[in-house]
Amino acid sequence: MALLDVQDLSIDIGGIKPLDSIGFAVDKGETLGIVGESGSGKSLTALSIMGLLPLIGGRVERGSIRFDGMELTRLPEPDYRRLRGRRIAFITQNPMTSLDPVIRVGEQIDQVARLHLGLSGSAARRHSIEIMERLRIPEAATTYHNYPHQLSGGMKQRIVIAMALAANPDLIIADEPTTALDVTIQAQIVQILGELVREKGVALILITHDMGVVAQACDRVVVLYAGRVAESNTVSAIFASPRHPYTQALIGCIPRNAMERGSLVGIPGLVPSVARYPAGCRFHPRCTRSESLCEREVPVLERLASGAEIACHVADKHEAAHA
Ligand SMILES: Nc1ncnc2c1ncn2[C@@H]1O[C@H](COP(=O)(O)OP(=O)(O)OP(=O)(O)O)[C@@H](O)[C@H]1O
Ligand SMILES: [Mg+2]
Repeated sequence: MALLDVQDLSIDIGGIKPLDSIGFAVDKGETLGIVGESGSGKSLTALSIMGLLPLIGGRVERGSIRFDGMELTRLPEPDYRRLRGRRIAFITQNPMTSLDPVIRVGEQIDQVARLHLGLSGSAARRHSIEIMERLRIPEAATTYHNYPHQLSGGMKQRIVIAMALAANPDLIIADEPTTALDVTIQAQIVQILGELVREKGVALILITHDMGVVAQACDRVVVLYAGRVAESNTVSAIFASPRHPYTQALIGCIPRNAMERGSLVGIPGLVPSVARYPAGCRFHPRCTRSESLCEREVPVLERLASGAEIACHVADKHEAAHA
């Protein structure tokens, strides 16, 4: 059984339904990418797992979120509070806001270890410095005493990740942890997260809108479009043979003539807002292969023999027979 198993998850925020039947699983030592354009439902998926929907007036309407055998959708808030930060760490989309400007960065990491692991004094400090070193923060013992404003954006981000790690969580959910950073720093952080997964066997959900990050760091990927799963597969398979027209567009595998024009940037049109989701396949107005069926019927998410999942009326679902 996977460490985290999300099935058929639909949520409601004041009558609005931004997630419809989302499903995926992630295991220890594995990195799952959740990818999609702005507004596709990535952050709300993270909030759902963290049990934080009530904070924005939302609730799980249907489906299941199982973590290490526990059904989180029915978990009482006091139990959830013990899970958050301790067993499931969340690095939010604006991580810099997680740092307190008037407390030394090392002490902020200590606080997590103190709260969740009961470490104190020099034991907490040693634990924090060790994590800082693992995150390749130079001169960790000195940096420990710095205030956030004395550090670069990339270093601050490493401190935020160190705080997420300080309680030895089993699952880390990182919501676009690198978008505010420049590309080289971004690549370093993503690489460090990947090492943590391999060395410590944590499970990582990496939320991003960047297929390059997915290619660099993830084992599996779930492609979200307008609150639904369009396609999910291993990263190697999805890059070798993307099936959903949206995935194809995301990774630039669109028709040869577009490639020949050499002007392949983005996908024309926008993700519709929740209030204006079209009938049928939500991608159909932007899809170059849309047929009349796509305008009428919601494509069900089909699971192929290889484990690939796809929700599309027109995609090729043929798989070579296994030997
Ligand atoms: N509190 C809320 N109330 C109602 N609708 C919301 C709320 N938060 C988000 N939404 C809507 O739900 C959809 C998904 O939002 P979400 O924040 O999960 O997108 P995202 O994929 O994380 O986008 P981004 O890449 O911009 O962070 C969007 O259309 C958004 O407008
Ligand atoms: Mg988001």
